[in-house]
Amino acid sequence: QLGLKTKRFGWNVYDQESVPSTQQLAHQLAHEGAEEGTIVIAEEQTAGRGRLNRSWHSPKGTGIWMSLILRPSIPPQQAPQLTLLVAVAVAEAIQEVTNIVPDIKWPNDILVNGKKVAGILTELQADPDQVRAVIVGIGMNVNQKQFPNDIAPIATSLALETGRTFHRPKIVQTLLQKLEQLYGQYLQHGFLPIKLLWEGYAVTIGQQIVARTLNGAIRGVALGITDSGTLKVQTEDGAIHYIYSADIEIKKE
Ligand code: BTN
Repeated sequence: QLGLKTKRFGWNVYDQESVPSTQQLAHQLAHEGAEEGTIVIAEEQTAGRGRLNRSWHSPKGTGIWMSLILRPSIPPQQAPQLTLLVAVAVAEAIQEVTNIVPDIKWPNDILVNGKKVAGILTELQADPDQVRAVIVGIGMNVNQKQFPNDIAPIATSLALETGRTFHRPKIVQTLLQKLEQLYGQYLQHGFLPIKLLWEGYAVTIGQQIVARTLNGAIRGVALGITDSGTLKVQTEDGAIHYIYSADIEIKKE
């Protein structure tokens, strides 16, 4: 009933009314051998998860709460590339549906007018040198007219930004098309073409930033992303740091 135009992605659909987290169910399915392209999608999540152990607000019937299973033959170190790939797919889908060109804040925040409209959570099931499955969680705020006070200053939805309401299955269809196309390109030609597309949407590069990692904060200039998808930051003393995972704050001049 999604009206899919994709060849593989989304043909195995677990369409749920309410789940704790689509990510959790997708992990379980992947563990049981679910094939690449399987998606789990829900009207509502009661325990949606974001990056860095945060929760993800997922009220009923308003957004897209979805997890996709991928099975690329890559080493675990290359997995950050997939986060950037998915960010490009989400940005392209939003652009196609709304005509708004969103920004991507490394690694995975999709912003419109400086507020977050979508987020991506990439998790792995892997052996030391080989990925078994990548569980890609995508949360997109679509038809919300308001947000709880604690996130209202930083969150937005497509409806709030455009004054329109959207048919969510159409967005899912567009998103899966973009994902399948970019993923195919990635498997065939590697990360470079994806990196170029990503840079076209990126707001982080060239900016003064603070990167908060598990090992503390790094202040400096974001120089770019590397071929493995890590962020390259130069601190004031001239040293170059490569950041695998962090929260980025962009310092306004
Ligand atoms: C982030 O920006 O921190 C990532 C948010 C990811 C949210 C999505 S919604 C579908 C999937 N299921 C979850 O519990 N989380 C992801």
